Amino acid sequence: MRVPFIGGNWKMNLSLTEAVAFVDELKQQLPDKNEVETVIAASPLFLSAMIDHSLNSPLQIAAENCFYEDYGAFTGEVSPKSLAEIKVPYVIVGHSERRRYFNETNDIVNKKVHSILRNQMTPIICCDETMGSLDSGDHFAWVVNQITTALHGIDEEVAKQVVIAYEPSWAIGTGNSASTSEAEEGCYLIRQTLADIYSDEVADEIRILYGGSVNDQNIVKLMQEPDIDGVLAGKASLQPSEFVKLANFKRLK
Ligand code: PGA
Repeated sequence: MRVPFIGGNWKMNLSLTEAVAFVDELKQQLPDKNEVETVIAASPLFLSAMIDHSLNSPLQIAAENCFYEDYGAFTGEVSPKSLAEIKVPYVIVGHSERRRYFNETNDIVNKKVHSILRNQMTPIICCDETMGSLDSGDHFAWVVNQITTALHGIDEEVAKQVVIAYEPSWAIGTGNSASTSEAEEGCYLIRQTLADIYSDEVADEIRILYGGSVNDQNIVKLMQEPDIDGVLAGKASLQPSEFVKLANFKRLK
């Protein structure tokens, strides 16, 4: 069975002191890792300290990005090898903000997916969607192409462990979440794409998240959908009390 995955994406927010205080405040209030996985993605500057402070707690700490080479003349980039060395388990790749502001293409996302897996970490592959209309054929092709290219050259045993996040950019940071049925439709489309690339069995194992203005008011309904295995929350992950509510969504009404 797919263990629910509740992720927070802090983006370029909080300070190191705030990040550590957040982890200390939160860590005793999270569900067991076998019941619900909880993951916070933060600036590379905070990761070591956050990992130290989350030891012996269910909270896992993720990176928001990395480069696709382990070493070299790539000024300012973060090596996946250095993330693996400090025991980062997950790395977000292809977030729509990286696609928009840093020209991250599907091919670059694919190279990053390979480098993350090569370093024994798990990619959280974000799939953007800009159309804002689920009945357009272009919309479907756009999503299918992102997933297919991101996973190019990844064999099925390895593919089973990746996490995919469906994040329509019109829903990110706007307070205007996709409706439950739109979110489910996007995640269903991704699962069908995975079944086409691999098999039904592999598609059944891969966790697919929805992201875009998730909060404690919409998470319960989203999590009831058959193809939504979790969420990636931006704004709602910045306050410990809010993230605790998302992590404990099973107790929300
Ligand atoms: P949001 O961000 O929850 O603030 O819309 C989500 C994301 O960018 O992952």
